[in-house]
Amino acid sequence: MSAVRDEIRLGDATPGVGSLANLRVRCMDCGTTVVADRSLTRCQVCGGLLDVDVPLDRPVRPEEFGVGLPPALRHSGVWRYRPLLPALPDDAIVSRWEGNTPLYVDDRLAAYAGLGAGRLAFKHEGHNPTASFKDRGMTVGVSHARAVGARIVACASTGNTSASLASYAAAAGLPALVLIPEGKISGAKLAQTLAYGARVVQIAGDFDQALTLLRQLTDAYDVYLVNSVNPFRLEGQKTIVFELIEQLGWHVPDVIVLPGGNLGNTAAFGKALAELHQVGLIDRLPRLAVIQAAGAAPFAAYHAGGYARFEAVVAETIATAIKIGNPASTPRARRSIERTIGLVTTVTDDEILDAKAAIDRVGIGCEPASAASLAGLRRLVAEGEISKDSSAVGILTGHVLKDADAVVAYHLEDHDGAPRPGANRPVSVAAELPALERALADALHG
Ligand code: F0G
Repeated sequence: MSAVRDEIRLGDATPGVGSLANLRVRCMDCGTTVVADRSLTRCQVCGGLLDVDVPLDRPVRPEEFGVGLPPALRHSGVWRYRPLLPALPDDAIVSRWEGNTPLYVDDRLAAYAGLGAGRLAFKHEGHNPTASFKDRGMTVGVSHARAVGARIVACASTGNTSASLASYAAAAGLPALVLIPEGKISGAKLAQTLAYGARVVQIAGDFDQALTLLRQLTDAYDVYLVNSVNPFRLEGQKTIVFELIEQLGWHVPDVIVLPGGNLGNTAAFGKALAELHQVGLIDRLPRLAVIQAAGAAPFAAYHAGGYARFEAVVAETIATAIKIGNPASTPRARRSIERTIGLVTTVTDDEILDAKAAIDRVGIGCEPASAASLAGLRRLVAEGEISKDSSAVGILTGHVLKDADAVVAYHLEDHDGAPRPGANRPVSVAAELPALERALADALHG
C-alpha cells in the first residue's frame, strides 16, 4: 500500500503536453475558477460540480466547423466542433473517428410514440467506435488526461464507460483501472473492457458504491478520474446536440428525449444548448425530456417534488446501463431541466422492453436503456405533456449488441406465462425440403 502511495502521490504529476494556461474550469455553485492542469472533479473551495469554461465571446458560424483541423482530427465528429470545445493542445488529442452518427427518421416509431409522420428522429449513438455515446466524452477526457500528464486513468461503470475508457486508454498508451459492480453489467460490455486491456476490478456492490469508492481512491492518489463528474467528459458529449441540430439544418426540434442514469448527458445537453444559443447558432431552446427507469428514478422524484429534497435510492431495473440510484450530475441536470423548461418522467421495465422491441423491429436496434427514450416519449405524449404535433429527437445511447442477452430473453422466454408482444421465436425444422417450404410460406405471410 505504502509503495503505491509513494509511487503515485497526489501532486506528483509529470508535466503534460503543451500549454494549459487557457484551460479553466468553474464551479457551478460558488463560481471559483481554476486552471485545469490536473484531474479535477469537484470545486476545491465548496465541493460543487465543475464546468469547463469555454470562452464564447463572439458569434460562431456553421461554416467554421471542421475547418483547419490537423489530419488526425479531420474525421472526428467531436473535434470538428472545436470552436465550442476546450482548447486542448493538438498533440494531446486521442481520437478514434468518434461521432458522425446517423439521424434516422422512422414513421412507424413516430406512430408508436403518438406523433405525426416525419415528426420523430433518432440519433443513434450506438454507431460510435465502442458502440455507445461514451466515446464522444472519452476522446476529450482521455485527451485532457494526456495533456496534464496523467499516469493512469480510471472509472466506475455500468459497462459502457468502461468499454470506452479501455479503448481510448489503449489508444493513448495509458493504463486503465475500471471498477464494476460484479455480475451486474452485460457480458458484451465486460468483454469489450477486458479485450481492450483495462484492469477490471469487480466489487460486491452496486454502481453507486463503486463510484463512491473510486472517488475515495482518486482523492488520495494521482489517478485521473473519467466519470462524468469530470467536466471534460461532458464537453465531448455536448457534440451529440451540436451534430443533431446541424443534421437538422440548424433547425431546433421541439423536444430532445434521452435516458437519464448518472445524468451526465442531461448536464452536457443543457450546456450545449445554452452555448449554441449564446453564439447565435440557434434562436430558441428545445425542451429536454429525461426518462428514468421506474426502479432507478431519484431524479424524477426530485423533479416531481419541485427540487425540494433529493433522496438517493437503491436502484433496480433491467436496463443495467441506467441502474443508478445516486446520480453524480444531479445539480447540473437540474440546471439543464430548468434552463429548457424540461420534463422528467419514468417508465417501467416492461415499457422499456416493448419500446426496445419496436426500435429493433424496424431495423434500427438499441440496448435497453436507450429505449427508455421512446417509451418515455410515448408516455409524455399520451399524458398530453408533449403535444401530438411536436417534433422530437430521441437519443439511442447504445448499440443493440451491447446487451444481446436481453434480446434473446425477450424473444425466447415467456413473461407472466405468455410470449412478449412481438416475440420473434426461431423455428426448428427437420433437415428436409418440405419442412423448409412450410417455413417459407410462413415467412412470406408473417
Ligand atoms: N444509456 C446508456 C447506454 C448508458 O450506458 C448510460 C450510462 C446512460 C444511458 C445514462 O447516461 O449517465 O449520462 O445519464 N452509462 C454509464 C456507464 C453510467 O458507466 O456506462 P447518463
